[in-house]
Amino acid sequence: MSPLLLLIFFVSLLPNTYPISAPSFPLFTNSRWIVDSTGQRVKLACVSWAAHLEPVAAEGLSKQPVDFVAKKVVDLGFNCVRFTWAVQMVTNASVGSITLRQSLLQLGLNESVAGVSVNNPELLDLNLVQVYQEVVAALARSNLMVILDNQLSKPGWCCSRYDGNGFFGDEYFDTDEWLSGLKIIATMFTSTPNVVGMSLRNEFRGPNQNLTLWYRYIQEGAEVVHSANPNLLVILSGLNFDLDLSFLLLKQTTLSFTNKLVYEIHWYEFSNGADWENGNQNNVCASVVKSTLLRGGFLLEQGWPLFLSEFGFDQSGTHLADNRYLTCFLSVTAEWDLDWALWALQGSYYLRDGQVAYDDESYGLLTRDWCKARNPSFVKRISALQSPLQGPGLSNKNPYNLIFHPLTGLCVVMDSPSKPLQLGPCADSKAWNYTSDGKLVVKGTSYCLQSVNLGKNAKIGTDCSKPNSKWELLSNSSMHISSKLHKTGTLLCLDIGSDGTIITNRCKCLFENGTCSPESQWFKIILSNKDITRGDSNLALPLVASWLSKLLLLGFWR
Ligand SMILES: *[C@@H]1O[C@H](CO)[C@@H](O)[C@H](O)[C@H]1NC(C)=O
Ligand SMILES: *[C@@H]1O[C@H](CO)[C@@H](O)[C@H](O)[C@H]1NC(C)=O
Ligand SMILES: *[C@@H]1O[C@H](CO)[C@@H](O)[C@H](O)[C@H]1NC(C)=O
Ligand SMILES: *[C@@H]1O[C@H](CO)[C@@H](O)[C@H](O)[C@H]1NC(C)=O
Ligand SMILES: *[C@@H]1O[C@H](CO)[C@@H](O)[C@H](O)[C@H]1NC(C)=O
Ligand SMILES: *[C@@H]1O[C@H](CO)[C@@H](O)[C@H](O)[C@H]1NC(C)=O
Repeated sequence: MSPLLLLIFFVSLLPNTYPISAPSFPLFTNSRWIVDSTGQRVKLACVSWAAHLEPVAAEGLSKQPVDFVAKKVVDLGFNCVRFTWAVQMVTNASVGSITLRQSLLQLGLNESVAGVSVNNPELLDLNLVQVYQEVVAALARSNLMVILDNQLSKPGWCCSRYDGNGFFGDEYFDTDEWLSGLKIIATMFTSTPNVVGMSLRNEFRGPNQNLTLWYRYIQEGAEVVHSANPNLLVILSGLNFDLDLSFLLLKQTTLSFTNKLVYEIHWYEFSNGADWENGNQNNVCASVVKSTLLRGGFLLEQGWPLFLSEFGFDQSGTHLADNRYLTCFLSVTAEWDLDWALWALQGSYYLRDGQVAYDDESYGLLTRDWCKARNPSFVKRISALQSPLQGPGLSNKNPYNLIFHPLTGLCVVMDSPSKPLQLGPCADSKAWNYTSDGKLVVKGTSYCLQSVNLGKNAKIGTDCSKPNSKWELLSNSSMHISSKLHKTGTLLCLDIGSDGTIITNRCKCLFENGTCSPESQWFKIILSNKDITRGDSNLALPLVASWLSKLLLLGFWR
């Protein structure tokens, strides 16, 4: 073999740090996983983009060019957009066949017209259905997957119990009109492969909810969508603002097709009636996790994909309850390795709740001018959860554990046994094993995690039989990883030092009320079988690299 070939050979052995393999469409389901047509797990990491309000157009077209927005979504690490629509856009000509300009003008949104004419002039005089299609096309150009989500029938801000859009038969929710709307939209995108799924209806709600009718019409809707466009994932929403799928425990849906059905559920700070401000955070988190399991999480165990299609928080970071909810939420999203959609992309609205001035969306991923991320630290924090941790076809690795820190979105990383452990990207983690006897072992080695003393760095050792190598998951949240000081019996909990290294401190907030924030000590031991390239090859890489540089120095390739 010539030196050049040798070199190429060795370079090819180097780990591919960013394996980019676009999913091959269409998508299917395989037990609880969404998979591509080759059977490989695809994780939906979506953000919702609203197009269902009174102007019946994707928000923000007056702020930035549509391709800029699509590219921004990609840059922020998302692979998917949950794109909303209102039934009347396609069933009522006086709603959907007017142009974007006419729609904005009739609402008195002259400034928005000016904005669109600067940022998206080619869209201004298309009709609203065409504008919707053009946005989907822009998302396709950026290789984003799209879930088409039917928010309501009559365009407007969603959702309230009494808005006439909450359940079949409500004032604006005509079941036949809905079915024909589903059919039109499903058919419209038969040759747009990046449109991977349709959510049949967002957040059923209100006084007319009725389980018999839910089964009847949701199954009918699912069949309509599937026969119009069999490529789509069919996504079904539960009752009570999509907080409740518990009824599926007793009775599943009956459909003519298989491997295409996904359930969706929502989860906000206010969803579980929890007192995030005053309660003990370990108990609050534990109880909302339990309630989420009962509301729909059990479906995963039963082998159904569960799309957490709305979560969100005040991105200003000033809302205490939201912040606490988010940390708990992220721990579950990591543990269950959920598919999810953030509410919401839009940094502002043309018009919301009849008000032009009320246009700043505090839950918005983007700023009011749609220019950049409102909360860059959130984007870093969610990034480990934007790619799959588990599932079919990820790698040939056996499952291992990661020690995830939901407050930062980072993982406990060991660079070398002699250096202090730190928080770092989960992709840089070692494969840990939390064993049945409470050890945290670096898989395939004799190294294990050990506590030293209060305020001291946790360390890596090889004598793993001593009590300081034994770690218990404490508190109702099970997120305090604790070991007992041998002499005094003092409980130590893993925590983050001011320099980002892993230390052990006195366990926080095991019993205190909401004045106490335990989140720095919350770690979630999660399962993964994804390739962790740097983590695994640290030892081998320097060898190969020095070998390569010698080859180069010696001029062997000439
Ligand atoms: C169609 O939309 C127009 C404008 O909003 C509305 O006045 C009309 O009632 C709608 N027609 C139907 C059949 O819903
Ligand atoms: C908005 O624009 C329309 C059409 O250009 C114009 O007729 C109308 O007077 C404008 N309204 C306001 C409030 O400027
Ligand atoms: C639900 O709808 C069915 C079918 O229309 C009806 O028989 C039943 O009484 C309704 N149940 C409730 C609780 O309203
Ligand atoms: C941890 O090690 C035990 C015993 O060797 C093994 O049975 C288990 O599958 C491992 N678990 C993980 C997550 O690596
Ligand atoms: C943990 O939860 C259990 C059951 O809900 C409760 O009885 C117990 O008081 C909680 N623990 C603490 C420390 O509050
Ligand atoms: C919470 O605990 C703090 C500190 O122990 C105490 O001062 C406060 O009164 C408690 N608040 C509630 C609502 O129990």
